[in-house]
Amino acid sequence: MSGSFFITTAIDYTNAAPHVGHAYEKVLADVIARFHRLRGDEVFFLTGVDQHGQKVQQSAEREGVEPQVFVDRMTTLFREPWDRLAVGYTAWAATTDPLHKACVGKVLTRLNDEGQIYKATRSGFYSVRQEQFLTDKERGPDGEFGPEWGQVEEREEENYYFRLAEHRQWLLDLIDKRSAAGKPLVLPEFRVGELRNAVEKLEGDLCISRPRARLAWGIPFPFDEDFVTYVWFDALVNYISFAPGFDPAPGADLSEFTRWWPALHVIGKDILIPAHGVYWPIMLKALGFADDDIPTLLVHGWWNIGGAKMSKSLGNSVEPGELAGRYGADALRYYLVRDIATGRDADFSEERLRERYNADLANDLGNLLNRALNMAQRYRQGIVRTGEPDAACAEVAQLAGEVTQAWAERMERHEVHLALEEIWKLISRCNAFVEESAPWKLAKDEAQAGGLDAVLHHLAESLRIVSILVAPVMPSAAETMRAQLQWHGSVSLAATAWGGLEDGHAVGAPTPLFPRLEADR
Ligand code: MSP
Repeated sequence: MSGSFFITTAIDYTNAAPHVGHAYEKVLADVIARFHRLRGDEVFFLTGVDQHGQKVQQSAEREGVEPQVFVDRMTTLFREPWDRLAVGYTAWAATTDPLHKACVGKVLTRLNDEGQIYKATRSGFYSVRQEQFLTDKERGPDGEFGPEWGQVEEREEENYYFRLAEHRQWLLDLIDKRSAAGKPLVLPEFRVGELRNAVEKLEGDLCISRPRARLAWGIPFPFDEDFVTYVWFDALVNYISFAPGFDPAPGADLSEFTRWWPALHVIGKDILIPAHGVYWPIMLKALGFADDDIPTLLVHGWWNIGGAKMSKSLGNSVEPGELAGRYGADALRYYLVRDIATGRDADFSEERLRERYNADLANDLGNLLNRALNMAQRYRQGIVRTGEPDAACAEVAQLAGEVTQAWAERMERHEVHLALEEIWKLISRCNAFVEESAPWKLAKDEAQAGGLDAVLHHLAESLRIVSILVAPVMPSAAETMRAQLQWHGSVSLAATAWGGLEDGHAVGAPTPLFPRLEADR
């Protein structure tokens, strides 16, 4: 079952500080990465920052600092919360990294040499104030450009263009072929139609340059220093610049790269069309990638606030590092992947996070661990024996197997919320099992000693399995559970098989896993 697995997130734009929506994407990817490690896969997990472009240049100018100084400072604002949230990436992509600049240069050179790029003069409406060309999207309901654009004039500009339109039919065929083969290009599959419609309408080529006179903060074209790369072309290349063993030169040795590629790309719904769903596959095709090497896109939905978009400029963004400080990284990770269905939107609410914390983590999971270990200590000095299991015990053991299987299937499909639901079926069953089997009564009757042993063993064993199943989402709580259970076996999918705690295993004493939150904080 083991192999190599490459996962990457979108790289966050460093024009503003990260909010909990950005955090969700990193956590989702990290959960998937950790699941693959459990399966025994070798994982390469890439995330990072997108640092070029006009907005960054303007923000730096406003602050009177060099753009590099500005982006370095912003980059820290991303790395800190990701570290705090235990996002265990293997490599950090930064578009100002010399490695990336060199790769973008080589990609441009190759595409230019192979006639996939051409230079042309086009005219359009240009906002002098905003220093950018305007499209019909910028027109108001009256068809005019609003006052925010200042003076708008028709201008001619020379730029580089990447041939997109000629690959239209290829991309349509690829989308259909992948869906027919049961390996949709876009997951969840309900978004495939959206992409297909956009590709149907594809016309024209992609302008991939900005004159340096107008935008200095970008990667220069190696064969024409008067131009820098358009930020979306630059940013997409990151997925291959930082991939192990990639070299865009024709005929390069790609043996290491192909061990990892194709990647699974975790992105938000806003950047599927056109960037990741249209430009990116066509860029790869133009670079000679085979159809099977066009990566799958896992498209998640958005965390909103009261149904509205979350953003720094709207003043409603929620800072992830601060939340992690208040509730712990595990609880925040849990909430972020539990209260949203992968692919759909959800509303972020701190109240809801607190509810989930108290109900699912403190009550259901935390109390179960606490009770199970407490009873093992009180009745058996911590020594857990297999004893004499009855039908109820057998039912718990059977459920553990079923839950593990269903959990793995859900995780394979990136349905983390449903995978967690599966784990909670076992946790709830165990909580009911405590009530039904009433160990405190069994403990009073010497004739029931074997029955009591079996109940305590089934609880400890179920918790051992739960500690593996929750590990991708809550790595630190999982470790604490293992420490309290004093189980030091290897944490893997194989270890979820029933029977990991041997007869006579000594468990430790409990300490609260998720102390209850008080009503008024
Ligand atoms: N820099 C580009 C991506 C280039 S990738 C080659 C970009 N950056 S971004 O900072 O605007 O967004 C980064 C990621 O965060 C995107 O996948 C985006 O969908 C995601 N999210 C931004 N806001 C979000 C929420 N409110 N909720 C969930 N994800 C969110 O796009």
